[in-house]
Amino acid sequence: MLDLVAQFATIKDEVLPAMMQVIETQQFIMGSSVPQLEAEIARLSHARHGIGCASGTDALLLPLKALNLQPGDEVVTTPFTFFATAGTIHNAGGTPVFVDIQPDTFNIDPAAVKRAITPRTRAIMPVHLYGQMADMLELMAIGRPLGVKVIEDAAQAIGARRKMDGEWRAAGELGWVTGYSFFPSKNLGAWGDAGMMVTSDDATADRLKKLRLHGGAKQYHHDEVGTNSRLDTLQAAVLLAKLPHLAPWSAKRREHAAYYTRAFADIPQVKPPVVDPANEHIFHQYTLRAERRDGLQAHLKKEGIGHAVYYPIPLHQAEHASREAISLPIYPELTRTQLDRVIDAIRGFYR
Ligand SMILES: Cc1ncc(COP(=O)(O)O)c(C=O)c1O
Repeated sequence: MLDLVAQFATIKDEVLPAMMQVIETQQFIMGSSVPQLEAEIARLSHARHGIGCASGTDALLLPLKALNLQPGDEVVTTPFTFFATAGTIHNAGGTPVFVDIQPDTFNIDPAAVKRAITPRTRAIMPVHLYGQMADMLELMAIGRPLGVKVIEDAAQAIGARRKMDGEWRAAGELGWVTGYSFFPSKNLGAWGDAGMMVTSDDATADRLKKLRLHGGAKQYHHDEVGTNSRLDTLQAAVLLAKLPHLAPWSAKRREHAAYYTRAFADIPQVKPPVVDPANEHIFHQYTLRAERRDGLQAHLKKEGIGHAVYYPIPLHQAEHASREAISLPIYPELTRTQLDRVIDAIRGFYR
């Protein structure tokens, strides 16, 4: 499904010296690579601040904590996502309210969000699923007049863009706070756990910096109760070394996706992913809707072809997508021969 060893071979000579530099200076905690990476990711997101943290999960949990949710406060989100999206809402003291997705893009449906708003709604948490952005313009238009914050779960969508009112807007640009994951399998993956928040709200940036460091910006001075969720300097060095590759890697993923989609045009039993024309997709996943999905899965397993079902169990609703979705290998280092093997196996199953 993903060959990180193939990626390692192409970047080894850039990443290892960067790590070595951290090791030689022994600056493992909040060393200079951390603020450097924070500045780079903020720039990529068209945001003013980047705040590194320990994981993508914490990159969602800390902004939710910053909302000081009270029992009964609601956060509207999608059921078709990784568990962390809803789990963090619960752990921050809120109640996740699930609304359905758009059947073509799998992203949260703004019309359903609008219907779910109540006086208890404190935030909307869209997920830019599989690497394409949700309809941020609509979501901001719903949240803004009500003082309801939009927190973008961009764990799968670093570098994704969407044309809004004729202008390219980045993931992380419009939301109040955006969370990224650098889990190793992500388009920009660390060599361990890591995450980052971005925001353009100065006061919120200060608050998040405190929350990730036991509630104090100054050592041994604690304004509130926070936690230890620092971004490891070694991981920041790995990510900085990999960052120049992100755009070409995502372009390669788009190229692979186009190749698959052309090949699947004559197999009526599979529906290739729909790219909203406003979106530039980064194809973290290439996910088909497939007839007899479980049978196809067994067939691909027998053929030795990597695949995965994201997500087999919807957190609530979104049942159709859970029954039909199947993701195929899409990583940049895939060869034409490998792509053709995947395509032939799928063709073989439906023949
Ligand atoms: C949509 C989504 N949200 C949140 C997360 C959590 O990120 P992490 O695994 O870095 O904690 C992930 C990735 O695993 C994800 O895919």
